[in-house]
Amino acid sequence: MTHHTTNGSDNGELAEPKSLTHHFSDAANNIVPSPLKALYKYTGDPTKISLASGLPPAEYFPFSSVQATVHDPNKFSEDLARVGEDFSFRVPLNSKDAGLDIPLELSLQYSASQGLPPLVDFLTEHTRMVHTPPYKNWDVVCTLGNTHAWDSVLTLFCNPGDTILVEKYCYPPPFVSANGKGYNVVPVFLDMDGIVPEKLEILLANWQQSQGKFPRLLYTICTGQNPTGSSLSEERRRAIYQICQKYDLLIIEDEPYYFLQMDPYEKEVEKRSQHCSLQSYEHFLNSLIPSFLKMDVDGRVLRMDSLSKVIAPGVRVGWIVGQKVFLEKVIRLNEYVIQAPNGFSQSLLYGLFSRWGQTGYLDWLINLRKEYTIRRDFAIDMIEKYIDKEYASWDAPVAGMFFHIEIDASKHPKYEELGKDALAIEKLIFDRSLENGTVIVPGSWFQVDKSMTSEKIFFRGTYAAVALKNLEQGMKQFAEALRAEFSDN
Ligand SMILES: Cc1ncc(COP(=O)(O)O)c(C=O)c1O
Repeated sequence: MTHHTTNGSDNGELAEPKSLTHHFSDAANNIVPSPLKALYKYTGDPTKISLASGLPPAEYFPFSSVQATVHDPNKFSEDLARVGEDFSFRVPLNSKDAGLDIPLELSLQYSASQGLPPLVDFLTEHTRMVHTPPYKNWDVVCTLGNTHAWDSVLTLFCNPGDTILVEKYCYPPPFVSANGKGYNVVPVFLDMDGIVPEKLEILLANWQQSQGKFPRLLYTICTGQNPTGSSLSEERRRAIYQICQKYDLLIIEDEPYYFLQMDPYEKEVEKRSQHCSLQSYEHFLNSLIPSFLKMDVDGRVLRMDSLSKVIAPGVRVGWIVGQKVFLEKVIRLNEYVIQAPNGFSQSLLYGLFSRWGQTGYLDWLINLRKEYTIRRDFAIDMIEKYIDKEYASWDAPVAGMFFHIEIDASKHPKYEELGKDALAIEKLIFDRSLENGTVIVPGSWFQVDKSMTSEKIFFRGTYAAVALKNLEQGMKQFAEALRAEFSDN
């Protein structure tokens, strides 16, 4: 079994990250290593007899092996039907037969809170290939996905009452959980290219005490934003990074959709064949918008990566990347909160990754990108075909699973009668669409500051969760609901 090493230390030209430990919360400052966990390093040491920890013997585990059948990363076809050979592997109980696997006697035992070393090493190498963090001593710690990672970040970097910035429209769990725990959540303006740097600068430069404490961190879903579908351009990322340097904010990038990046939507079907014509891994990696992590010379970024959207949500495995001093605290918190990620997941994921290899995993991601491009193209074609531009507008997303359709509520015949209440119009459309058989999410459900009103409303839809033949029907029904609402009778 390989052992995990610290990263970036092999390259003498890189600088140490900035010391940013003043951002630690009281909880982070007070957390101490679990003394019992510290004894695990002696597990498997032939020179020691351990009478220390409550580890059940592996021969009492009822699982003697676990078998998985998985896809070849290249066996995708463009019409969404997977073809070709699946292959199987068997994860054994014992190390001596393990080969490409993390044996069950290790993964099903209490184990490293950072994640099992071979899996952490694989994810570290992947991170190095994709993001190449530009400082010494960055690290990777496994999580149970980004929901869990965000909870850890909040605990370690904010005291209740501290202010965090989030995009004005946001996938609800991050801001609802932060609100519930007593953090001060303040929205930041965004458009289809993500957060607008100038508006962020204005917000910070004119910060008033009445808005709460000066912000400590910026939380952003920067690629394929949920719910708007927007993606932050490289230029804006660089500008935002500089603003966060100037005002000493940490950046938390929540990136489950990072690899679902696509070429821009092409209206003419004949020209689409050039889509996704990636010639090499290098070409693929270079085609990705650089992450905040990639430009993070200070070590002020915590990147939250998840396998939920590219492998499966139920594996409940993700990872955080950041400067080692920060991540040591994440490991400490893991010790007390989760012990370690699920052992079956770690063994099965490592078994998959060790057989695919780094390039096989990239093949898988490249193929997913093609699949989502087809879905995105189809969804936008259907919007163009059915939705009336008189009261609705949209942009084609370049990443992720979501599109949004903006509606001008002021054009609704009952707008005046309803006291110019755009949310009442949103509700009418939602109910009518539901009646017609299409569920689509009202934009206000994602609104961080519920007191802000506008005559523009929007609905979030996805092309991920639906077969293409149903997507057309779903869009047609939504379009009919809109037409009925916006007609005069
Ligand atoms: C922006 C964002 N963050 C986090 C999550 C949840 O991620 P995970 O399954 O890794 O907890 C989602 C899921 O939809 C999401 O859209």
